[in-house]
Amino acid sequence: MSKPEKKLSEIVFGRRATPSFDGEPIPSEDLRAILQAGLHAPSGYNIQPWRFIVVQSPEQKKRLRAASYNQGKVEEASAVIVACGDADGWRKDLDEMIAQGREGGMPESYADQARSSVPNYLSSFTSEQMHGWLNKQVMLAYTHMMLMAEVLGYDTAPMEGFEQDKVHEMLRLPLSYWVVALLAVGHLKGLDKFDGGRFDMKRTVFGEEFGKPLK
Ligand SMILES: Cc1cc2nc3c(=O)[nH]c(=O)nc-3n(C[C@H](O)[C@H](O)[C@H](O)COP(=O)(O)O)c2cc1C
Repeated sequence: MSKPEKKLSEIVFGRRATPSFDGEPIPSEDLRAILQAGLHAPSGYNIQPWRFIVVQSPEQKKRLRAASYNQGKVEEASAVIVACGDADGWRKDLDEMIAQGREGGMPESYADQARSSVPNYLSSFTSEQMHGWLNKQVMLAYTHMMLMAEVLGYDTAPMEGFEQDKVHEMLRLPLSYWVVALLAVGHLKGLDKFDGGRFDMKRTVFGEEFGKPLK
């Protein structure tokens, strides 16, 4: 019998970046449900430039830990999802994206526009701009995965502490891949992290223009 899912509001206000995991393997159906949630995220032009490498074997987790400033939770987690973006993904995926869209009711005029505007827009990027664009797209899918994992009763740890070149090499990533972040998933071992709190809305949210309080 499957466990009851946690409420999203409970997770949004109660989730912590997990400091340590018990290492129990994660059932493949749960892992797939988490991954599917990410793959259903929105992306610019629906081009889905994300790619995910799921690391579960003890040997690979050990290597990934070494490429992640020796962060112990990388090795302790049940699975670490390495979230990447493919700078060349759109070149291969545009036709498929349009074909899928057409099946779902995308008008021919929209398809025509995408055929020209996607290459125009994305081929104009510098590598820095492309990395910025990929970060934006991939983090949205990543966040879907993090929240779905928590909904299913798992604990998660987002991580940006890794060395791009080392992760690239150990996962044998194609040159066009850019590693965005790691997501460790598993079950908390020991005490949870302290609650760092969040700034009050008055400090970070404005109404109508910068500096004006939201009414
Ligand atoms: C994109 C991102 C990268 C992070 N990288 C790391 C990391 O490499 N190592 C780590 O221990 N925590 C990392 N964290 C966790 C943050 O320190 C943590 O989310 C923050 O202190 C707020 O705590 P909370 O998530 O428990 O509310 C990262 C969080 C995010 C969102």
